[in-house]
Amino acid sequence: MEELTCYLPIKVVFGNGKLRELGDYVKNYGDKAFLAIDPYLDKIGLGDEVIALLKKFSIETIKYTDIEPNPVCFGADKAAQIAKKEGSQVVIGIGGGSTIDFAKGVAIIATHPGKCWDYTERTDQEVLRPTDKTLPIIAIPTTAGTGSEVTLYAVFNNPQIKEKSTIFSDKIFPKVTIVDPELMYSMPPRLTALTGIDALSHAIESYINIHANSYSKMLAIESIKLVAEYLPVAVANGKNKEARGKMAWASTLAGMAIAHVGTVLPHALGQPVSGFCGAAHGGSIASCLAKVLEFSFTADFSRFAEVAEAMDPAVKCLPLREKAEKSAKLVQRLLKDTNSEVTFSDFGLREQDIDKVTNIALTAYFMDIANHPKQVTKEDIQRLYRECMS
Ligand SMILES: [Fe+2]
Repeated sequence: MEELTCYLPIKVVFGNGKLRELGDYVKNYGDKAFLAIDPYLDKIGLGDEVIALLKKFSIETIKYTDIEPNPVCFGADKAAQIAKKEGSQVVIGIGGGSTIDFAKGVAIIATHPGKCWDYTERTDQEVLRPTDKTLPIIAIPTTAGTGSEVTLYAVFNNPQIKEKSTIFSDKIFPKVTIVDPELMYSMPPRLTALTGIDALSHAIESYINIHANSYSKMLAIESIKLVAEYLPVAVANGKNKEARGKMAWASTLAGMAIAHVGTVLPHALGQPVSGFCGAAHGGSIASCLAKVLEFSFTADFSRFAEVAEAMDPAVKCLPLREKAEKSAKLVQRLLKDTNSEVTFSDFGLREQDIDKVTNIALTAYFMDIANHPKQVTKEDIQRLYRECMS
């Protein structure tokens, strides 16, 4: 009999137009809100719209937009001091994964000692742990990919050492997540594609994770099916409401799956390149997902065959090994169909950087490597980096 634990202490509100209900949720946590919003979204008026929505509930809002893609840990430290000074009682994050992760960092540092980087999970430092003092977080994703709105992770970039690391704590589960697909309609095709591949990778990685269980697999397999069917449609026509809604749901499910079991080797390889070269997160994952599956499918034919069948039911009749091998090919086909074929070289990774990024992977992403279904050596990682450069 399988034993498992499910824990997702988040109210997830899903549906078109649900942003308008934001005030109903924020008011439960206080009347002083800190709003971290993607600068582009603020520029097109969303920041003011949200402030007006909250004003109706007598909620005073401090807006903060100095947020970069691959959020910088020092930026969260700076914003947290403002939140602290203003007496903010709740932190709202509106944007892609970078903005939501940024909001999580602010929620910790506004009420805790130390710096944001001290809270990231690494083997080379004593890790500080957030407590119940962490400010309540409300997350509103505007891309379908990050999953951060339903996870206990926040990834930060430290430009001083050109590395990314992850805060990992159940104190940063958002209290409320509003997934409103209408907010995703204006995403351009490239962003739709690469964030969608990130969602697919969350789903596949959690499905093949050695700790996957019946619950996480149920979430992940549905997500894989949805991304395979609807990502090409959303990329081809961003106004297709059905495809946007299905991708938003796929991303939420994949996020819930990684909240339970985490990611594995593709994120362990992609994140160091993202930190070292400044690559967009989705692009760094798109560079290596298919190659990692090709390298790994022999570790568990049944599991990889199930991934392939979820992506394309037509492979059902193939022999097991062949079907498992198809998982990498089907991901490759999806990358092609969505114009997402990229390599690590496209982001500036060079041969002489391979030792550096390999060491980062082993230092900051050791859990992803340990949970991968195939045992991985340092040499395997170096070889995979090399293969993913072309
Ligand atoms: Fe990701």
